[in-house]
Amino acid sequence: MDEAQLYALMRPRKVCICRSVSETEIRDCIRSGRASNFSELQAETRCSTGCGTCESRVRTIMNDELSKLASSDSSG
Ligand code: FES
Repeated sequence: MDEAQLYALMRPRKVCICRSVSETEIRDCIRSGRASNFSELQAETRCSTGCGTCESRVRTIMNDELSKLASSDSSG
């Protein structure tokens, strides 16, 4: 493990500050099938239900994870 990876582990970044939701939580929620769109993700994690400034980041992460899921589906 290099230094950058160590820092990443030590300081889990919150994507949504208001609701204290991390990128990992968002990705896990989608990967596990609990959410497949933005409103489901909000309902599950409560992310982006406060000030709303995190919305574009949340959507970017969500879309990234959804496209990973879609590509692993079609290859399996
Ligand atoms: S930072 Fe996510 S709602 Fe405010």
